[in-house]
Amino acid sequence: MLINTPPSSDQNSNITSKILVTGGAGYIGSHTTLALLNAGFNVIVLDNLTNSSAESLSRVQRISGKTLEFIQGDVRDRKLLDHLFTTHSIGAVLHFAGLKAVGESVVKPLDYFSNNVVGSVNLCEAMAHAQVFNLVFSSSATVYGTPKEMPISESFPTAEPTNPYGHTKLIIEDFLQSLAKSDPRWSIALLRYFNPVGAHQSGLIGEAPNGTPNNLMPYMSQVAIGKLKFLSVFGTDYPTHDGTGVRDYIHVLDLADGHLSALKAISNRTGVNIWNLGTGIGYSVLELIRAFELASGQAVTYQIAERRPGDIAECWADPTKAADELGWKANRGLTEMMTDTWRWQQANPEGYGG
Ligand code: NAD
Ligand code: UD1
Repeated sequence: MLINTPPSSDQNSNITSKILVTGGAGYIGSHTTLALLNAGFNVIVLDNLTNSSAESLSRVQRISGKTLEFIQGDVRDRKLLDHLFTTHSIGAVLHFAGLKAVGESVVKPLDYFSNNVVGSVNLCEAMAHAQVFNLVFSSSATVYGTPKEMPISESFPTAEPTNPYGHTKLIIEDFLQSLAKSDPRWSIALLRYFNPVGAHQSGLIGEAPNGTPNNLMPYMSQVAIGKLKFLSVFGTDYPTHDGTGVRDYIHVLDLADGHLSALKAISNRTGVNIWNLGTGIGYSVLELIRAFELASGQAVTYQIAERRPGDIAECWADPTKAADELGWKANRGLTEMMTDTWRWQQANPEGYGG
């Protein structure tokens, strides 16, 4: 076993191996880095800051009262990775680094295949070279395509994605499966996230999208703060209880805890393990608007618009496998997700640049 479990006390002095977190300055990576530090792990973050700011990591250190090592660099830089693995005793990698904007992936597919697929292949080559075989990968519920029924369990088939972003996730999942078949030393977790929202309760770290957000939660909170005029509700004629799209929104802190559980689990397993990280509850767009209005005390101006191409009607997880095998479940409800998002948005109207 290469992952050293941290001591139960707050001290981490006797941990010899470290966790490499790629993309750790980003939204989910920064919250997970915080959870790792709080649990007593030593953390090295590798991030090229294309979609983030090193300020998130300064704040992670502030909140935790612990230090981490930050390397600004690219997962496609093999020399840098080899240097990292040679100079540090790394026990496992949490791999968040990648591009994630669906619309942009249609316009710039090469960027997506390069950052996501080439980056992941490069990382695995460097890991194999360094004999580090524990990997937790950030996948997405998008790999299920348009499932026939809800909730979605891990046994559901994957489907041809409708955009290059989704395609990269499926390709990476597939090659990780091949890799694990080729060498039994690999122990890999594919974590299929549903819809991450929320922020740390301190209001110091949260989601800070570049430019106009594409996703519902950051868009809505920017409407509430007055940065955007109105929210477009994409379609009211879906076969759902109120006609708007239904998703499984999960608090980013629950998601971060899920990574720690997965990290622990893979140290006792080999091969590829797939876990859905969701709450098992679906909320509609209109329900989310109402919950956000209640939590923030702000009215969210919205207009009904056409369906967004590529959207599915509903998508929520069966989280039973993660509960049974990881002993993990999401604990935070919708009100907490909305309250924490609003606290972060109010305190940081310009994200980390403010
Ligand atoms: P994010 O953009 O906030 O974080 C990704 C981080 O990776 C950024 O800090 C970025 O600078 C960095 N990065 C990108 N390319 C890199 C490269 N080549 N080398 C080094 N660093 C690089 O995104 P996030 O929301 O935190 O998502 C993290 C991961 O989870 C991504 O792989 C994403 O596809 C996946 N995911 C996210 C969601 C979501 O809704 N946020 C849902 C499902 C899956
Ligand atoms: C989207 C991506 C998905 C990706 C995920 C996380 C698409 C088609 N899917 O998921 O691949 O893994 O983000 O990055 O882009 N909505 C509005 N108005 C808005 C924005 C969204 O009504 O301005 C609705 C959508 O129609 C959907 C729901 O809100 O019903 C959630 O949308 P969003 O936050 O973009 O997430 P997904 O579409 O689920």
